[in-house]
Amino acid sequence: MATNENIFPVSVIGLGNMGLAIAAAYLKAGYPTTVWNRSKGKGERLAAEGATVADTHAEALAASSVAVVCLSTYHVVHELLEPLAGELAGKVLINLTSGTPEEARRTAEWAAKHNIAYLDGAIMAIPPMIGAPEALIFYGGTKAVFDTYEPMLKVLGGSTTYLSNDPGVPLLYDLALLTMMYGAWHGHIHAHAMLKTGGISAAEFLPYADSWLRYLITPLLTDPNGAKALDDENYTTDVSNMNTNKLALDHIIRTSAEMDINADWLTPIYTLAAQKVEEGYGADAFTRIIEGMTSKK
Ligand SMILES: NC(=O)c1ccc[n+]([C@@H]2O[C@H](COP(=O)([O-])OP(=O)(O)OC[C@H]3O[C@@H](n4cnc5c(N)ncnc54)[C@H](OP(=O)(O)O)[C@@H]3O)[C@@H](O)[C@H]2O)c1
Repeated sequence: MATNENIFPVSVIGLGNMGLAIAAAYLKAGYPTTVWNRSKGKGERLAAEGATVADTHAEALAASSVAVVCLSTYHVVHELLEPLAGELAGKVLINLTSGTPEEARRTAEWAAKHNIAYLDGAIMAIPPMIGAPEALIFYGGTKAVFDTYEPMLKVLGGSTTYLSNDPGVPLLYDLALLTMMYGAWHGHIHAHAMLKTGGISAAEFLPYADSWLRYLITPLLTDPNGAKALDDENYTTDVSNMNTNKLALDHIIRTSAEMDINADWLTPIYTLAAQKVEEGYGADAFTRIIEGMTSKK
């Protein structure tokens, strides 16, 4: 919990699943909390816990010198805040809305132009984790603003982390982690489409999925030597080369076709591997396909 001198009024704009958790965390920590949401009624439970529910977002923003905004998109953030730029001048805006790094940078530029202290945050947690020590939230923007408000920011997550004065960096980390998640998730669903078609239940397969992730995938993707090799663009391997991985991808694609399962998502990955083999990198590590994804060929 924040110490008393760190307690000051906070306004929370947006009471979706995440905004509700954020407002509840501030209330629980003893911050006088004013909330606003487009659809009425979502603040009722918070009001019972002591929150002030504002009729308009302008009224909510006027109630505190610090606003936490958590809306569906940056477009909505601008739609709501741009007409109030004058009223926000001299205040602190903490934007926890997801979007792209460029959207974060443009919003920071807009805030700076209007003398609004701005931090952009990326929440790497789900609503029930908000307030927990393990909740990871990245921040970017002016370091002095982060330092001043760190105790208040930590109310939302014990693993609050300042990354960069570039306000786009938190979302870059966020999206990098998310694409890892969706890649794994898609692979997981594809695996179960194959298994289900082959008559194997998810429960039967679970111990082997667990072992595979625990002893192969996680160590592979979290190996410090692997991270260094990526940074050094070192694609040598004596473990598993591009030829082997290209063949494995071909086996999955052909088996999926035989089972009438859509494996289209693997075709571009197979194509990148095949391209690298054609270029003479068959003995290199699979990681070399990164060259086919970036401008470097
Ligand atoms: N939920 C998560 O697990 C999670 C995790 C990390 C990050 N986030 C991020 O947190 C942000 C909010 O997510 P959420 O889960 O709270 O989403 P949500 O439950 O769908 O809530 C969206 C919020 O945006 C508001 N909104 C949408 N369009 C609006 C408009 N035109 N004018 C005014 N308000 C508008 C909604 O108001 P109404 O209630 O009136 O529709 C609601 O308050 C997103 O950027 C999301 O990516 C969420």
